[in-house]
Amino acid sequence: MTRRDVAAIILAAGKGTRMKSDLPKGLHPIMGLSIVECIVRSVRKAGIDRIVVVIGHQAELMEYQLAHLGVTFAHQSPQLGTGHAAMQARDALAGHNGPVMVLPGDTPLITEAEIGALVDAYLESAAAAAMLTFEAKDPSGYGRIIRDPNGHVAGIVEERDASSEQRKIQEVNPAMYIFTGTELWETLPKLSNSNAQGEYYLTDAIGAIAGSGKRVTAVSVDPDSVAGVNDRWQLAQLSSVLRMRLLKTHALAGVTIADPETTWIGPDVELSPDVCIEPSTILMGRTSIGAGSTIGPNTRVVDTRIGMNCIILMSHLNSAVVEDDVRCGPFANLRPGTILRKGVRIGNFVEVKNAELGEQVSASHLTYLGDSTIGARSNIGAGTITCNYDGFDKNRTEIGEGAFIGSNSTLIAPVHIGNGAFVAAGSTINRDVPADAMAIGRSQQEVKEEWAKRWRQRKAERSS
Ligand code: UD1
Ligand code: CA
Repeated sequence: MTRRDVAAIILAAGKGTRMKSDLPKGLHPIMGLSIVECIVRSVRKAGIDRIVVVIGHQAELMEYQLAHLGVTFAHQSPQLGTGHAAMQARDALAGHNGPVMVLPGDTPLITEAEIGALVDAYLESAAAAAMLTFEAKDPSGYGRIIRDPNGHVAGIVEERDASSEQRKIQEVNPAMYIFTGTELWETLPKLSNSNAQGEYYLTDAIGAIAGSGKRVTAVSVDPDSVAGVNDRWQLAQLSSVLRMRLLKTHALAGVTIADPETTWIGPDVELSPDVCIEPSTILMGRTSIGAGSTIGPNTRVVDTRIGMNCIILMSHLNSAVVEDDVRCGPFANLRPGTILRKGVRIGNFVEVKNAELGEQVSASHLTYLGDSTIGARSNIGAGTITCNYDGFDKNRTEIGEGAFIGSNSTLIAPVHIGNGAFVAAGSTINRDVPADAMAIGRSQQEVKEEWAKRWRQRKAERSS
């Protein structure tokens, strides 16, 4: 028997009352992923593919938001306790003859290491069930582990049902178990709900199995990895543990993290060695960054691919592609659909959206480039605006290679400016400009000799 023969049930039907939220607890994000997705990913990494998620409270929303995970859903309504919840997964696991793992749906920091340790302990000990435990400095809120005189697990007592002596026990239950399938399905229907909460406790299945003389193996683990989220303060604290864990992985892989306190790097971000992340920088979604690039300070990058040796300074990038040797910022805003080819220069207060800028294009100051294609080596002067929107449609601006767009030009799309063309500063361009032509669209300058001097004299006479 191997890990592949194990199925997992994740219990996520509860309301999560203490979150004080309309969103079900399992959907609250932690470093950009829902709590349930964090757990599902770790279960998969541990080699377990068959996963049933038990849902109940806001089931429709849960199913919709978690559809991409490829898990099976089982419904629990009403929610009568963790034992009752596990029972609801039985039909979904029809035909599965291997061991069944049961995990809570509110422990986002669990890794494949703890899940692997649980499976391995079960497989090696040939016990009827195995479970994780941990030593809590403050055990309050957790089920306490009761051991028999030989040190074997005899049962779990919930805090509300515990005697004052039992409440002193510091070995507690993170609610992560694995059972022989037949053992679980035979035990669950026999649970009683005569306890302080009037619920069918999954914890009682452990007591029942041990009470029938069978072995329950326990493995002690790091409390940080199995901590649960009950309220938003715990969520915030676990988020910071997860954040540091991710930062450490990148740092040890050769990424400079100048200030861990203010840096966020999401779980799906890929960084090459010798990337340097300056303070107050947030990298999220499917972002990747090539070797030698420096990002930040004060930068936010989401779902963006950045090449090698780029400098991205105090800017926002969302769903963009940035090739090697690009310099961007300070204060640039790259919006979805931006493609910057090799060597592009984007300066301060430049906004780019749905636009491709060819190699070595330079747009250094105060510019909006939307729905545009700009050929290699063109220079976009300060204050250039593409007027892409006419109130109904978005229209394209096309600029050839090696063009020069003078400062403060207004390009009214759709418009095409040919290779090597020159647009005079201050022009409003609403007709195509052929290659190598010069276009000027502004009123003629007049110069009136001595005018200013006469004006000042008139003013001075009147006030004297
Ligand atoms: C449970 C354990 C406790 C353990 C603690 C660890 C029981 C009886 N107690 O208590 O020993 O120390 O977890 O955090 O199991 N759920 C359902 N349906 C239900 C009830 C709960 O799906 O009817 C789900 C919840 O959505 C949640 C998980 O089960 O994801 C745990 O439920 P929760 O109410 O948080 O259990 P605890 O009181 O923390
Ligand atoms: Ca809990």
